[in-house]
Amino acid sequence: TQSRQPLVAGNWKMNGNLTLAESLADGIEQAELQVTEVVVCPPFPYLAALSKRTLTLGAQDVSACESGAYTGDVSAAMLNEMGCRYVIVGHSERRDGHQESNALVGEKAAQALSQGLTPIVCVGESEQTRQAGLVESHIAEQLKAIVDSIGGEAIAKIVIAYEPIWAIGTGQTATPEQAQAVHRFIRGYLAEVDPAAAAKIRILYGGSVKGSNAAELFAQPDVDGGLIGGASLKVDEFLTICQAAN
Ligand code: G3P
Repeated sequence: TQSRQPLVAGNWKMNGNLTLAESLADGIEQAELQVTEVVVCPPFPYLAALSKRTLTLGAQDVSACESGAYTGDVSAAMLNEMGCRYVIVGHSERRDGHQESNALVGEKAAQALSQGLTPIVCVGESEQTRQAGLVESHIAEQLKAIVDSIGGEAIAKIVIAYEPIWAIGTGQTATPEQAQAVHRFIRGYLAEVDPAAAAKIRILYGGSVKGSNAAELFAQPDVDGGLIGGASLKVDEFLTICQAAN
Protein backbone atom coordinates (compact mmCIF):
# COMPACT_ATOMS: atom_id res chain seq x y z
CA THR A 1 0.00 0.00 0.00
CA GLN A 2 3.06 2.23 0.76
CA SER A 3 2.72 5.54 -1.09
CA ARG A 4 -0.44 4.58 -2.96
CA GLN A 5 -3.56 6.40 -1.79
CA PRO A 6 -6.23 3.84 -0.84
CA LEU A 7 -9.35 3.92 -3.02
CA VAL A 8 -12.78 2.51 -2.26
CA ALA A 9 -15.35 2.59 -5.05
CA GLY A 10 -19.01 1.70 -4.70
CA ASN A 11 -20.54 -0.01 -7.73
CA TRP A 12 -24.28 0.36 -7.24
CA LYS A 13 -25.00 -1.73 -10.34
CA MET A 14 -28.67 -1.53 -11.43
CA ASN A 15 -30.05 -1.02 -7.93
CA GLY A 16 -32.09 1.51 -6.01
CA ASN A 17 -33.84 4.65 -7.13
CA LEU A 18 -33.15 8.37 -7.01
CA THR A 19 -34.15 8.61 -3.35
CA LEU A 20 -31.63 5.95 -2.37
CA ALA A 21 -28.97 7.55 -4.56
CA GLU A 22 -29.46 10.91 -2.84
CA SER A 23 -29.45 9.43 0.64
CA LEU A 24 -26.30 7.36 0.01
CA ALA A 25 -24.63 10.48 -1.35
CA ASP A 26 -25.68 12.46 1.75
CA GLY A 27 -24.22 9.85 4.07
CA ILE A 28 -20.93 9.68 2.19
CA GLU A 29 -20.54 13.45 1.99
CA GLN A 30 -21.13 13.80 5.73
CA ALA A 31 -18.41 11.29 6.61
CA GLU A 32 -14.93 12.63 7.11
CA LEU A 33 -12.44 10.27 5.56
CA GLN A 34 -8.91 11.55 5.81
CA VAL A 35 -6.87 9.19 3.72
CA THR A 36 -9.12 7.06 1.58
CA GLU A 37 -10.37 8.31 -1.77
CA VAL A 38 -14.05 7.37 -2.12
CA VAL A 39 -15.87 7.05 -5.44
CA VAL A 40 -19.49 6.16 -6.14
CA CYS A 41 -20.65 4.65 -9.43
CA PRO A 42 -24.42 5.09 -9.76
CA PRO A 43 -26.54 4.03 -12.73
CA PHE A 44 -26.28 6.50 -15.67
CA PRO A 45 -29.63 8.28 -15.12
CA TYR A 46 -28.61 9.44 -11.63
CA LEU A 47 -25.28 10.96 -12.63
CA ALA A 48 -26.82 14.33 -13.47
CA ALA A 49 -28.47 14.70 -10.06
CA LEU A 50 -25.32 13.68 -8.22
CA SER A 51 -22.99 15.78 -10.35
CA LYS A 52 -23.88 18.91 -8.36
CA ARG A 53 -22.37 17.39 -5.23
CA THR A 54 -18.87 17.26 -3.82
CA LEU A 55 -18.49 13.48 -3.86
CA THR A 56 -16.35 11.83 -6.52
CA LEU A 57 -18.39 10.20 -9.27
CA GLY A 58 -17.73 7.29 -11.55
CA ALA A 59 -19.85 5.54 -14.18
CA GLN A 60 -20.35 1.81 -14.60
CA ASP A 61 -19.50 1.52 -18.30
CA VAL A 62 -18.49 3.61 -21.31
CA SER A 63 -18.55 3.26 -25.07
CA ALA A 64 -15.33 2.41 -26.88
CA CYS A 65 -16.35 4.91 -29.57
CA GLU A 66 -16.12 8.66 -29.50
CA SER A 67 -19.62 9.58 -30.73
CA GLY A 68 -22.12 8.62 -33.40
CA ALA A 69 -24.89 6.16 -34.18
CA TYR A 70 -24.55 3.87 -31.15
CA THR A 71 -28.04 3.66 -29.70
CA GLY A 72 -28.05 3.12 -25.97
CA ASP A 73 -24.35 3.81 -25.49
CA VAL A 74 -22.76 6.64 -23.50
CA SER A 75 -19.51 8.33 -24.46
CA ALA A 76 -16.53 9.17 -22.28
CA ALA A 77 -16.92 12.86 -23.16
CA MET A 78 -20.53 12.79 -21.89
CA LEU A 79 -19.43 11.19 -18.64
CA ASN A 80 -16.73 13.78 -18.25
CA GLU A 81 -19.27 16.53 -18.87
CA MET A 82 -21.50 15.12 -16.11
CA GLY A 83 -18.65 15.33 -13.61
CA CYS A 84 -17.42 11.73 -13.66
CA ARG A 85 -13.76 11.23 -12.92
CA TYR A 86 -13.78 7.45 -13.00
CA VAL A 87 -15.47 4.75 -15.03
CA ILE A 88 -15.66 1.00 -14.43
CA VAL A 89 -14.62 -0.91 -17.54
CA GLY A 90 -14.80 -4.64 -18.23
CA HIS A 91 -16.86 -5.69 -15.24
CA SER A 92 -17.53 -9.42 -15.48
CA GLU A 93 -21.24 -8.65 -15.69
CA ARG A 94 -20.45 -6.87 -18.97
CA ARG A 95 -17.80 -9.28 -20.19
CA ASP A 96 -20.13 -12.25 -19.64
CA GLY A 97 -23.59 -10.68 -19.88
CA HIS A 98 -22.82 -8.44 -22.86
CA GLN A 99 -20.09 -10.46 -24.57
CA GLU A 100 -17.38 -7.85 -24.10
CA SER A 101 -14.05 -9.20 -25.33
CA ASN A 102 -10.64 -8.47 -23.87
CA ALA A 103 -9.93 -6.29 -26.90
CA LEU A 104 -13.12 -4.24 -26.46
CA VAL A 105 -12.36 -3.73 -22.77
CA GLY A 106 -8.92 -2.45 -23.75
CA GLU A 107 -10.48 -0.03 -26.25
CA LYS A 108 -12.91 1.24 -23.63
CA ALA A 109 -10.05 1.88 -21.21
CA ALA A 110 -8.17 3.83 -23.89
CA GLN A 111 -11.28 5.82 -24.78
CA ALA A 112 -11.84 6.72 -21.11
CA LEU A 113 -8.24 7.89 -20.78
CA SER A 114 -8.51 9.99 -23.93
CA GLN A 115 -11.29 12.00 -22.27
CA GLY A 116 -9.49 12.41 -18.97
CA LEU A 117 -11.39 9.72 -17.08
CA THR A 118 -9.64 7.13 -14.94
CA PRO A 119 -10.77 3.67 -15.96
CA ILE A 120 -11.22 1.10 -13.19
CA VAL A 121 -10.53 -1.95 -15.31
CA CYS A 122 -11.88 -5.23 -13.93
CA VAL A 123 -10.18 -8.58 -14.34
CA GLY A 124 -10.91 -11.91 -12.70
CA GLU A 125 -11.46 -15.60 -13.24
CA SER A 126 -14.45 -17.92 -13.01
CA GLU A 127 -14.60 -20.75 -10.52
CA GLN A 128 -13.97 -23.22 -13.34
CA THR A 129 -10.81 -21.38 -14.42
CA ARG A 130 -9.56 -21.36 -10.82
CA GLN A 131 -10.25 -25.08 -10.43
CA ALA A 132 -8.35 -25.76 -13.63
CA GLY A 133 -5.33 -23.92 -12.20
CA LEU A 134 -5.44 -21.28 -14.93
CA VAL A 135 -5.90 -18.11 -12.87
CA GLU A 136 -2.60 -16.49 -13.82
CA SER A 137 -2.79 -17.22 -17.55
CA HIS A 138 -6.39 -15.96 -17.64
CA ILE A 139 -5.53 -12.72 -15.85
CA ALA A 140 -2.39 -12.30 -17.99
CA GLU A 141 -4.50 -12.41 -21.17
CA GLN A 142 -6.88 -9.81 -19.78
CA LEU A 143 -3.97 -7.57 -18.74
CA LYS A 144 -2.20 -7.97 -22.08
CA ALA A 145 -5.22 -6.65 -23.98
CA ILE A 146 -5.40 -3.63 -21.67
CA VAL A 147 -1.70 -2.80 -21.97
CA ASP A 148 -1.72 -3.37 -25.74
CA SER A 149 -4.54 -0.86 -26.05
CA ILE A 150 -3.50 1.90 -23.62
CA GLY A 151 0.29 1.57 -23.99
CA GLY A 152 2.79 0.88 -21.22
CA GLU A 153 3.27 4.52 -20.27
CA ALA A 154 -0.43 4.86 -19.34
CA ILE A 155 -0.39 2.05 -16.77
CA ALA A 156 0.04 4.48 -13.87
CA LYS A 157 -3.09 6.35 -15.01
CA ILE A 158 -5.53 3.47 -14.57
CA VAL A 159 -6.88 1.45 -11.67
CA ILE A 160 -7.20 -2.34 -11.85
CA ALA A 161 -9.90 -4.18 -9.91
CA TYR A 162 -9.37 -7.89 -9.29
CA GLU A 163 -12.83 -9.41 -9.02
CA PRO A 164 -12.92 -13.20 -8.95
CA ILE A 165 -16.30 -14.04 -10.48
CA TRP A 166 -16.99 -16.73 -7.89
CA ALA A 167 -16.77 -14.10 -5.15
CA ILE A 168 -19.15 -11.54 -6.70
CA GLY A 169 -22.45 -11.32 -4.87
CA THR A 170 -21.97 -14.81 -3.42
CA GLY A 171 -20.79 -13.99 0.09
CA GLN A 172 -17.80 -16.22 -0.73
CA THR A 173 -15.06 -13.61 -0.32
CA ALA A 174 -11.54 -14.49 -1.49
CA THR A 175 -9.29 -15.01 1.50
CA PRO A 176 -6.75 -12.24 2.06
CA GLU A 177 -4.06 -14.70 0.93
CA GLN A 178 -5.90 -15.58 -2.28
CA ALA A 179 -6.44 -11.91 -3.06
CA GLN A 180 -2.84 -10.96 -2.29
CA ALA A 181 -1.47 -13.77 -4.48
CA VAL A 182 -3.36 -12.49 -7.53
CA HIS A 183 -2.70 -8.82 -6.76
CA ARG A 184 1.03 -9.59 -6.51
CA PHE A 185 0.84 -11.43 -9.83
CA ILE A 186 -0.92 -8.44 -11.46
CA ARG A 187 1.66 -5.97 -10.17
CA GLY A 188 4.46 -8.29 -11.24
CA TYR A 189 3.00 -8.64 -14.73
CA LEU A 190 2.74 -4.86 -15.10
CA ALA A 191 6.26 -4.41 -13.69
CA GLU A 192 7.62 -6.34 -16.66
CA VAL A 193 6.18 -3.57 -18.85
CA ASP A 194 6.96 -0.56 -16.64
CA PRO A 195 8.30 -1.07 -13.11
CA ALA A 196 7.71 2.52 -11.96
CA ALA A 197 4.09 2.50 -13.16
CA ALA A 198 3.50 -0.90 -11.57
CA ALA A 199 4.66 0.46 -8.21
CA LYS A 200 2.19 3.33 -8.51
CA ILE A 201 -0.93 1.65 -9.89
CA ARG A 202 -3.75 0.99 -7.45
CA ILE A 203 -5.13 -2.54 -7.52
CA LEU A 204 -8.53 -2.95 -5.85
CA TYR A 205 -10.14 -6.16 -4.67
CA GLY A 206 -13.83 -6.77 -5.38
CA GLY A 207 -16.12 -9.64 -4.47
CA SER A 208 -18.22 -9.85 -1.31
CA VAL A 209 -16.26 -7.20 0.57
CA LYS A 210 -18.10 -6.38 3.81
CA GLY A 211 -17.53 -4.23 6.85
CA SER A 212 -16.38 -7.35 8.67
CA ASN A 213 -13.71 -8.52 6.21
CA ALA A 214 -12.47 -5.30 4.58
CA ALA A 215 -9.64 -4.55 7.02
CA GLU A 216 -7.87 -7.89 6.56
CA LEU A 217 -8.15 -7.65 2.77
CA PHE A 218 -6.90 -4.06 2.65
CA ALA A 219 -3.99 -4.93 4.97
CA GLN A 220 -2.42 -7.04 2.20
CA PRO A 221 0.61 -5.33 0.68
CA ASP A 222 -0.70 -5.26 -2.90
CA VAL A 223 -4.37 -4.58 -2.09
CA ASP A 224 -4.94 -0.82 -2.37
CA GLY A 225 -8.65 -0.71 -1.65
CA GLY A 226 -11.87 -2.22 -2.90
CA LEU A 227 -14.62 -2.21 -5.50
CA ILE A 228 -17.77 -2.77 -3.51
CA GLY A 229 -21.11 -4.03 -4.81
CA GLY A 230 -23.90 -5.01 -2.41
CA ALA A 231 -22.31 -3.45 0.66
CA SER A 232 -22.07 -0.06 -1.09
CA LEU A 233 -25.88 0.22 -0.96
CA LYS A 234 -25.87 0.45 2.85
CA VAL A 235 -24.28 3.68 3.94
CA ASP A 236 -23.05 2.55 7.36
CA GLU A 237 -21.48 -0.60 6.00
CA PHE A 238 -19.93 1.24 3.07
CA LEU A 239 -18.39 3.81 5.41
CA THR A 240 -17.05 1.04 7.65
CA ILE A 241 -15.33 -0.38 4.55
CA CYS A 242 -13.96 3.06 3.65
CA GLN A 243 -12.62 3.48 7.18
CA ALA A 244 -10.91 0.11 6.92
CA ALA A 245 -8.85 1.47 4.03
CA ASN A 246 -7.87 4.63 5.91
O1 G3P B 1 -18.02 -4.36 -8.80
C1 G3P B 1 -18.24 -4.82 -7.51
C2 G3P B 1 -18.76 -6.19 -7.46
O2 G3P B 1 -18.83 -6.92 -8.61
C3 G3P B 1 -18.68 -6.94 -6.19
O3 G3P B 1 -19.99 -7.16 -5.84
O4 G3P B 1 -21.81 -7.48 -4.27
O5 G3P B 1 -19.86 -9.05 -4.26
O6 G3P B 1 -19.58 -6.71 -3.44
P1 G3P B 1 -20.32 -7.64 -4.35
